[in-house]
Amino acid sequence: MTGGGSSIPAVQALLRVLAAGRDVAELGTAFGEGAAAIAETARSVVTVERDPERAAVARERLAGFENVEALEGDAYDVLRGRGPFGLVFADGGAYDWERILELLEPGGLLVKDDLTPGRAVDGDPVREFLLRDPRLVAVEILTTPESAAIVAVKRR
Ligand SMILES: C[S@@+](CC[C@H](N)C(=O)[O-])C[C@H]1O[C@@H](n2cnc3c(N)ncnc32)[C@H](O)[C@@H]1O
Repeated sequence: MTGGGSSIPAVQALLRVLAAGRDVAELGTAFGEGAAAIAETARSVVTVERDPERAAVARERLAGFENVEALEGDAYDVLRGRGPFGLVFADGGAYDWERILELLEPGGLLVKDDLTPGRAVDGDPVREFLLRDPRLVAVEILTTPESAAIVAVKRR
């Protein structure tokens, strides 16, 4: 089984707001809790989990949502040729930011959570990409006093 638990309630609340009316991709389903929150407001959700046990739990958790496709495999393989999406929740461990940007429509949103607040941008590859890439406009926000997320929009 791969590490990483479910997203926290504050991140799920953020995702509910940002997903409203959008077609959403989630990289890393885990047990389906984030996807369930997103599905409450999104037009559609495709979520991918590479751990078979977790993917099975998520399929059951998400079975009642008509707007969710819960898929098993490596998200970068499974999502090849899919999209573009209005929101991508990048929550799957290793991040191929170029591939993730390709999945986003112009004006589409990108969310990365699980950051430790107060860290320098220099030397942090996630922050360096998301906060400095000229194709994005991004902001880092606190989701709790001990955790932060970055929300970015792909420039049109
Ligand atoms: C932090 S958890 C996801 C939590 C979930 N998004 C939520 O909101 O509850 C990260 C998950 O990503 C999965 N994962 C890691 N790399 C992946 C990949 N390349 N493709 C699909 N899933 C991946 C792990 O197995 C793990 O279950």
